[in-house]
Order: sequence, then structure tokens, then C-alpha cells
Amino acid sequence: MKVLVTGGAGFVGSHLVDELAKKHEVVIYDNLEPQVHKNVPEYLNSDAVFVQEDVRNRTKLNEAVEGSDIIFHEAAMVGVGQSMYQVEKYMDVNTMGTAKLLDILANEEHNVKKLIVASSMSIYGEGKYECPDCGIIHPMLRSNEQLKKREWEMKCPNCDRVVKPVPTDENKTLQPTSIYAISKKDQEEMCLAVGRAYGIPAVALRYFNIYGPRQALSNPYTGVCAIFSSRIKNNNPPIIFEDGLQTRDFVSVHDIVRANLLVMEKSKADYEMFNVGTGKPVSILDIASTLSKLYGKNLKPEIVEKYRSGDIRHCYADISKIKKLGFKPEVT
Ligand code: UD1
Repeated sequence: MKVLVTGGAGFVGSHLVDELAKKHEVVIYDNLEPQVHKNVPEYLNSDAVFVQEDVRNRTKLNEAVEGSDIIFHEAAMVGVGQSMYQVEKYMDVNTMGTAKLLDILANEEHNVKKLIVASSMSIYGEGKYECPDCGIIHPMLRSNEQLKKREWEMKCPNCDRVVKPVPTDENKTLQPTSIYAISKKDQEEMCLAVGRAYGIPAVALRYFNIYGPRQALSNPYTGVCAIFSSRIKNNNPPIIFEDGLQTRDFVSVHDIVRANLLVMEKSKADYEMFNVGTGKPVSILDIASTLSKLYGKNLKPEIVEKYRSGDIRHCYADISKIKKLGFKPEVT
């Protein structure tokens, strides 16, 4: 089969290409965004055809789509914080780039049989919680007043009691709190809607916090694992915001690839969205000490009790939906 991977030189895309290229003819479509790549990356799979182009170039994108049976749409600007001051660029690349792809699928001749789009846990905003009095709640972000008082845990919006995080499933209300998250929600909803309308099976994968080799350490807009890694490698202690007990669901890029290959093969996945995580919450403090240990350094993390405006407190995945397809995270 002929497979097109937009963003195929990136962190997730390149690992996906490596697996796909073992069995399929693969085209990598990637503009080599300068914030991520200084040169053509050494790891770029030489069995794949490489097209250095931007998803906003409709003519070139059309040429790439024309010969494809399957499309993985991984190309995106990925900085949450950066999206708040490069609003136009993020909407242009993520939302409008996807609009171009879908416009091609709707109007041009092609053989595309499946479209898999990279969505994100960021579209949930805060995770799902349980209040001892009020039951399941889907709260908004903590207020600045609360954070200024250094009261880090989430409180029930109804009764103000501290609430407990529970696994976040796909039915949780979507409350994107950044332009990046809004653009990811757009990408997901647009792909599913156009897919349904034209009978092109589309699947959206809501990636949780991904880590692994090739994550751009030099890019300040990647996640906490990359930030801590680069500090530890330079003998600087990780800097912990809040109290370090906030949690996320850290999932290996190799498991993310497995999820992509699974939904490619399973028609039961068509027109659906799935969380991809491990289902296990891990605290930021744990991440700091685990990374220090793995790099063989004894660096005590600095808990500065500052906070990042717009941060969520807890979110980890309920992965029962994708488990039903046969997914099992393999990397701890
Ligand atoms: C956000 C996005 C997510 C994206 C990720 C990486 C949301 C809800 N989620 O996730 O989609 O994949 O960014 O771009 O928008 N932290 C420290 N010290 C640091 C850096 C971070 O303590 O030096 C803490 C943060 O305060 C936060 C946690 O680590 O509590 C995780 O931060 P980060 O890796 O940026 O990810 P998210 O906020 O989960």
C-alpha cells in the first residue's frame, strides 16, 4: 500500500514512518519546520520518499495525496504556549492546513481509503474528577486567585471540596484552553466530519503526553520530559512548578506508533476517536527523579512553587475504548 505521512520527519511521524516502511511504500511530507529541525534529520528513513513541503501548499499536497491509499496526518505546530502569541500561524498550519487536505479529499480524484489524524489530550482541558458530594465533574481551569494562594488541588465548582482525579474518557466535555488545543479539536472534528460525509474512514487519536527518542530537546515548546532531559544532561536540576504532585499520562512514542498501526488495520476504528495513553497517572516529581536516575545523575529537583498560567492539574487517560480494539501499552 501507498502511505502518506504528513509531518513524517517529526517526532511521532518519523517513528511511524520507520514501522510503515517495513511493509509499505511511504511518502514523507514535511516542511522541516526550523524550530524543530536545523537540517534534514539523520534518522530520516531512506526507504521512504521525502517531499520537503508545507501542508499549506495545496498543489504539492494534492500531488502527494493523489497516489496514496492511506494518510497519517501528523503535521502540526505543537507549542501550547507559543500558540497563544502566534495565533494566526497556528490556526493557519493546523486548522487551515487540515482544511486544505480535506478540500483535496472532497474535490480531487484520489484513492484514499483511510485518514488517521493526530489529535491531543489538550482538547479536554482539565481531566475528569470525582467530588465526594457531587459525583463526576468536568471542571474548568483553576482560578488565578486559587493558584496565588498556592492551593494546587482541583476543587469542586459546586461545593468547593477538593476533588479526586479519575480516568478521562472520550465522552468528557471538550474544554480546549489554548489556541493549539482549539486547532487540534478543529483537526479532529473536521477530519471526522469530512470522512463521514464522503465515506472516507477517518480516525482521530488523542495522544496524551508523549516522550521518547527524537523529541526535539532544543525546541522549548515540547513537553516536560524533553525540558527536564535537557536540563539534567547539562547538570541542571529540573525545575518543578506547583508542588510536583500534578499528574499526567506519559506514553512512549513506540506505543503511539502501535496505536496508529492498529487503527489503520481495524475497520472497527473507523469514524471514531480514541485516547492513546497508558491509563496510569504519573506525577511530575516522579518524572524528575526517574529521569535523573536514568541519566545517572543525582540532581535534586527544585520545587519552586511557581505555576504556569493555563496549566491543568491532572489528566490521565481512560484507555478502555482503544483496548477493545486490542491496544495494550507496552512501555512503562
Ligand atoms: C501541554 C498540552 C499537551 C502537549 C504538551 C507538550 C494542554 C492541556 N496540554 O501539556 O497537549 O502535548 O503541553 O507541548 O494544553 N512542568 C514543570 N517544569 C517544567 C515544565 C513543566 O514542573 O520545566 C510541569 C507543568 O507545570 C505541568 C507538567 O509539568 O504541570 C506538564 O507540562 P507539559 O509537559 O508542558 O505538558 P502539559 O501541560 O500536560
